Amino acid sequence: ETIRLLVDNNSNSEKSYTQAVDLLNNGEVVAFPTETVYGLGAVATNDRGVKKIFEAKGRPSDNPLIVHIGTIEEVANFIEEIPENALKLMDTFWPGPLTLIMKAKPGILAPSVTAGLTTVGMRMPDHEVALDLLRKLKKPVAAPSANRSGKPSPTKAEHVEEDLKGRIPLILDGGATGIGIESTVLDITVNPPVILRPGGVTKEMLEEVIGEVIQPTKLQEKLDSTPKAPGMKYTHYAPNAPVYLIESDQMTVSEAISKLSNKGEKIALLAPLSFENLGADFFFPYGEEGDQEMMSSKLYDDLRACDKTQATIILATTTSIQGVGAAIMNRLEKAAGGNWYK
Ligand code: TXA
Ligand code: MG
Repeated sequence: ETIRLLVDNNSNSEKSYTQAVDLLNNGEVVAFPTETVYGLGAVATNDRGVKKIFEAKGRPSDNPLIVHIGTIEEVANFIEEIPENALKLMDTFWPGPLTLIMKAKPGILAPSVTAGLTTVGMRMPDHEVALDLLRKLKKPVAAPSANRSGKPSPTKAEHVEEDLKGRIPLILDGGATGIGIESTVLDITVNPPVILRPGGVTKEMLEEVIGEVIQPTKLQEKLDSTPKAPGMKYTHYAPNAPVYLIESDQMTVSEAISKLSNKGEKIALLAPLSFENLGADFFFPYGEEGDQEMMSSKLYDDLRACDKTQATIILATTTSIQGVGAAIMNRLEKAAGGNWYK
């Protein structure tokens, strides 16, 4: 059975951490909050534990995991040579939503963590619960997002329960995560470094610290038949009803709703607050128009909420790809499988 323990401002949280640490040391998995999404962790040097992550998630074994650490100093235990630029980025953005792909020291991490690659992604999360757990455990924690493979990443403990109840022993419940979409994944083994997955730390923010950074366009990604971040080739973030992207324009959305309603579709609309009265059967507001922070924090919760409605189709309005918009649009395009409403 899956136990869920509240750890925010709770007098029993010491006991909860002890339970989590004991489970992890015994080769078990534990779900915990980070500032991006909930992670499903195992000790990164314990292959038996790490394999349980793949089992619980139904994750393909060729998709490597991110290793989470509680202090910058620990990086040296796992990385062959830390590039100068990586040090600068850690100083600036850690703890925070930036995963750095570097050359791994061979033979230290569990083989399933790196899925056969010579590199490993590392990050120091910016969340009290995650950091407390890591510092009490004093070991690296391999953790993907704590959802069943293919589903939107969990931003609340309830989401983890929905997907993994009965499959994992413990969820540390630290409430809703802040950023709401996964960390930026930056490959720093190449020059200039390449963004493999856009996230909360944007291209613009990275370039201020280390100069030129490549953010591949969708077309480049398509031409590149083997995606560099193995996880990016799989279906992602998908609710049950099909998602279609649509321009963030009230006329366009209103016409789409009329047409679809006439065909008997039940429509869920994800859009800015001002789109409320356009006639959708179910409405999930992102927040005020252009508030990308709000949009990223609500996106996965909204996509999951669509599954609890009778919607037969989901329309999601888009946002500009400036700043964190690049990450939001990356996730929306994946949720929609690239489909636009026409
Ligand atoms: O915010 C996050 O990053 C969350 C929290 C829990 O930390 N974690 C997360 O992990 O999103 P996951 O496993 O769902 O996504 C990790 C991504 C995948 O696309 C994976 O393919 C890529 O990072 N990745 C991991 N290691 C890699 C490596 N050595 N080379 C290239 N890509 C890698
Ligand atoms: Mg994931």
